[in-house]
Amino acid sequence: MTTRFADKVVLITGAGSGLGRAAATQVAAEGASLALVDISERGLAETAAEIAEVAPDAEVLQVTADVSNESDVERYVAETLKTFGHIDGFFNNAGIEGKQNLTEDFGTDEFDKVVSINLRGVFLGLKHVLAVMKSQGSGTVVNTASVGGIRGVGNQSGYAAAKHGVVGLTRNSGIEYGEFGVTVKAIAPGAIMTPMVEGSLKQMDPENWEEAGRQFVSVNPMKRFGRPEEVGHLVAFLLSDEASFINATVIPIDGGQSEKY
Ligand SMILES: NC(=O)c1ccc[n+]([C@@H]2O[C@H](COP(=O)([O-])OP(=O)(O)OC[C@H]3O[C@@H](n4cnc5c(N)ncnc54)[C@H](O)[C@@H]3O)[C@@H](O)[C@H]2O)c1
Repeated sequence: MTTRFADKVVLITGAGSGLGRAAATQVAAEGASLALVDISERGLAETAAEIAEVAPDAEVLQVTADVSNESDVERYVAETLKTFGHIDGFFNNAGIEGKQNLTEDFGTDEFDKVVSINLRGVFLGLKHVLAVMKSQGSGTVVNTASVGGIRGVGNQSGYAAAKHGVVGLTRNSGIEYGEFGVTVKAIAPGAIMTPMVEGSLKQMDPENWEEAGRQFVSVNPMKRFGRPEEVGHLVAFLLSDEASFINATVIPIDGGQSEKY
């Protein structure tokens, strides 16, 4: 077992499910202390229980917070610093899918909600964590964008706007903070089987969502969904010192989907 995260503190939003949970268990298994943030207290408890199985000695802080609320963001950063004293890695990951609809039918409230969590939430995390990392003179951020942030997918005005925005924030802050010893990167996952994707398949076809899933991935070069742990491995690499010269860029993890004509 590698110990790339011995003595390191990793802060993860959206840690109560899916990709956040997978990254949390991976870095915990490699020695990290963890600050887990989610709006779902139950999700956090489940993730903490999974971590206890793979890394019984890992120190874990759980913070229930809404990433779109600035005082909640200030609180999760303050609690992390109070508990651990520093933040070495930040997986700025919480997000929602939102309802699927043509642009003309896309509710304005729905647009605001998706952008508030998926873009404003990422901005607020950057704002408050980068200040800490700059003063430390070290740190790495991984933002969660999406294939929907680098390509047109359709029926997701709010999600597309937010995820393209996350790519923009990544490039912008990576360029700003590189000289302070801090890197900012993004991942662009394709369809990874998590509760979010299950929910979106159920929107497409509530009765036969599993068949809808098979059809959905039939156009993927690898003809399957990605697994959360595959994303967890990428995030762990990007947060580790091994990825120290990767900055201000976006790494797809999608089985080749985004390169296909
Ligand atoms: N699964 C995929 O195929 C896929 C593809 C591309 C991008 N993504 C992105 O990956 C990230 C994680 O998605 P996932 O698939 O793990 O989904 P998920 O639904 O399994 O997990 C998302 C977590 O974020 C939390 N969350 C939602 N709103 C929040 C808020 N306001 N404040 C704090 N926490 C909040 C949820 O409670 C949940 O635990 C999201 O940003 C999503 O857009 C996922």
